[in-house]
Amino acid sequence: MGEKDKIHEMIRVNHAGEYGAIRIYKGQLAVLGKSSVGPVIQHMAEQEQDHFDLFDKEIKDRHVRPTALAPLWHVAGFALGAASALLGKKGAMACTVAVESVIDEHYRDQLKDLETLPKEKDLKDKIAKCHAEELEHHDTSLELEAEKLPGYKVFTTFVKTASRTAIWLSKKI
Ligand SMILES: [Fe+2]
Ligand SMILES: [Fe+2]
Repeated sequence: MGEKDKIHEMIRVNHAGEYGAIRIYKGQLAVLGKSSVGPVIQHMAEQEQDHFDLFDKEIKDRHVRPTALAPLWHVAGFALGAASALLGKKGAMACTVAVESVIDEHYRDQLKDLETLPKEKDLKDKIAKCHAEELEHHDTSLELEAEKLPGYKVFTTFVKTASRTAIWLSKKI
């Protein structure tokens, strides 16, 4: 794959992923918005919106084709968020731990790839900002007792697999 295609693929998948993240938190807020964790989730959702806006600008500036799967992530993200929140606060937090641990690897890989492309420093800085905030979401969710969810292992394994599948699809489609 050429360099330009590779960069476009990165922007497309990040744009899709940040959109999915917004939808997950919206789904959680629909269930838990008025609970004690409502403000925490709201804050995360606002940061995801900022992340989305960063990549949305890249999509427009560079004329990157966005994923064709946005309607799917619109529904699937919301459904995952709402379903996790129906398991309770720990369910919502376990979902975030799982998603963000996959995103951590994903952004880490991209940052490594971009090290060899000095002219993409601006893109790299954007990804680094998102990466740092995803790690905050991950750690906040652990502090809020994600691991105490009954069936934590099974649930997070499921969410991680779903997240990896979504990333794989959004690179190509
Ligand atoms: Fe994000
Ligand atoms: Fe996040």
